[in-house]
Amino acid sequence: MADQYAHSGDDKRPTEIPAIRWEEPPEGPVLVLLDQTRLPAEEVELVCTDASALVEAIRSLAVRGAPLLGIAGAYGVALAAVRGFDVEEAAAALAGARPTAVNLAVGVRRAQSAHEAALAKGGDVGQAAATALAAARQLHREDAEASGRMAEHGLALLDELLPGGGHRILTHCNTGSLVSGGEGTAFAVALAAHRTGRLRRLWVDETRPLLQGARLTAYEAARSGMAYTLLTDNAAGSLFAAGEVDAVLIGADRITADGSVANKVGSYPLAVLARYHHVPFIVVAPVTTVDLDTADGASIEVEQRPGHEVTEVTAPQVPVAGVEAGGGIPVAPLGTQAYNPAFDVTPSELVTAIVTEEGVVSPVTAEALAELCARSRRV
Ligand code: MRU
Repeated sequence: MADQYAHSGDDKRPTEIPAIRWEEPPEGPVLVLLDQTRLPAEEVELVCTDASALVEAIRSLAVRGAPLLGIAGAYGVALAAVRGFDVEEAAAALAGARPTAVNLAVGVRRAQSAHEAALAKGGDVGQAAATALAAARQLHREDAEASGRMAEHGLALLDELLPGGGHRILTHCNTGSLVSGGEGTAFAVALAAHRTGRLRRLWVDETRPLLQGARLTAYEAARSGMAYTLLTDNAAGSLFAAGEVDAVLIGADRITADGSVANKVGSYPLAVLARYHHVPFIVVAPVTTVDLDTADGASIEVEQRPGHEVTEVTAPQVPVAGVEAGGGIPVAPLGTQAYNPAFDVTPSELVTAIVTEEGVVSPVTAEALAELCARSRRV
């Protein structure tokens, strides 16, 4: 296929896009989010002064993506503590805001445990709040570092699986700096391939219905200057059939003890296609996404989203002149029921490798994942 399909990003803004930050203006501490529902049309910030505003931002996907949800959850607990709200109540609301990405509950728990430990040691509420904030900041830093290490391991794996470079990589949903303290997970590997001259093209699935690929990954790709091409999700099959995909790189929202991978709906069909066409299917995720307490894919709670996300083209996901944010343009007859799971689950036998900051698991087995988690706890 001719390279006429590749758009080389010409956006000269920095690749790093800070998706979240803690600020302390005179009126009191706040959590500032880049509102991802408004991208790419507008770069608008959302200022959260309490955990309930953050819960709403999580539900509406203003802040999203597994690693970033963990960071947001931890800061949310710190925000409740610093502003004198009931920390337990806030933590429960935050952890339950979305069910599938395990990082959210992990991040919340991390700040909450730090808070509890400080109180148990006899610290006052101010010291406990400061400890919760320090835990959130630490998680934020660790995620940034993990990102860099995932990129290194992922690049080495690509070299091993696809010697010679010139990679044409297909990705789904959004996994760059919009979901991370660093450059992301799967996207960070593609970025490393781009920077070292190994990436020929990033194929970007649009990712129906909320268009994380079209709106967010294309936005990140354009800023990085890499060659990328957008496709509708259902065009992926013909792309594989044409021999145009060398590897699939995706992120994950939860990886269970048996190696099943929950990720944005549409990932599983890509894994099936990849197996049929003998193309590596690679999952890139931090160790915090591995959930050994969930035995298998069938035990994962898959978030079901409202039907209107499918039956309407929703503003502001696609800003439309004359349509208010939150309003939608119907694309199905009024009253149509929709099936709208936010995620699907890919069984381990379809996953070539899981790339983490601690190294690569391949083949993906329960034993190898348990060993990886044990190793990561030791360091
Ligand atoms: O519903 P979203 O947009 O939060 O879903 C995000 C994804 O599915 C990502 O692929 C996943 O969180 C991995 S991000 C590194």
